[in-house]
Amino acid sequence: MTIVYRSNAGTTRRYAELLAKELSCDAVELSKAKDSVTGDTVYLGWIMGNEIQGLAEAKTAFDLCAVAGVGMMDSEADQAKTREKAALGEIPFFFLPGDFHMENVTGMLKLAMGVVRKALRAEIKKSGDPKIAETLRRIEEGVDKFDENALAPLADYVRRLE
Ligand SMILES: Cc1cc2nc3c(=O)[nH]c(=O)nc-3n(C[C@H](O)[C@H](O)[C@H](O)COP(=O)(O)O)c2cc1C
Repeated sequence: MTIVYRSNAGTTRRYAELLAKELSCDAVELSKAKDSVTGDTVYLGWIMGNEIQGLAEAKTAFDLCAVAGVGMMDSEADQAKTREKAALGEIPFFFLPGDFHMENVTGMLKLAMGVVRKALRAEIKKSGDPKIAETLRRIEEGVDKFDENALAPLADYVRRLE
């Protein structure tokens, strides 16, 4: 078993390394893994716009036993959207709560976040939707949701496979 991951600001890497330690296997970053990893793989990717980053590449490159997405939007509805976009078929999906801080967002992603914030503000003005207000609040105030214990269901699942 190998844990392959893609992280932007570090939360997904932390989860991947903890999981690897717990399962006594390696955690390898996606771009390095493509040439070196074979056999059963668990993929962890950070979530952007309800999409698990790197998943398309991971699906073609590895034999996936399970996939986890790391995100700051932890509602059932958001998790369902991510699961649906991931189109994993029989492969089980796990959600892991992540951290988010605007100061860690740089380059193109920072620009994109600026556009998203503007759009969310306009939408809140129009509809007053509390869910959208909560999304904007998380973006502006930041989120610290990393939780080591959240790995337990995924770790248990993988252990049962071995
Ligand atoms: C541009 C951008 C878009 C994001 N979109 C989502 C999203 O749609 N859903 C979500 O749950 N989290 C979203 N997040 C939050 C990240 O997924 C979260 O911060 C995660 O912990 C990032 O993992 P990392 O620390 O490994 O990069 C977004 C973050 C950024 C920077």
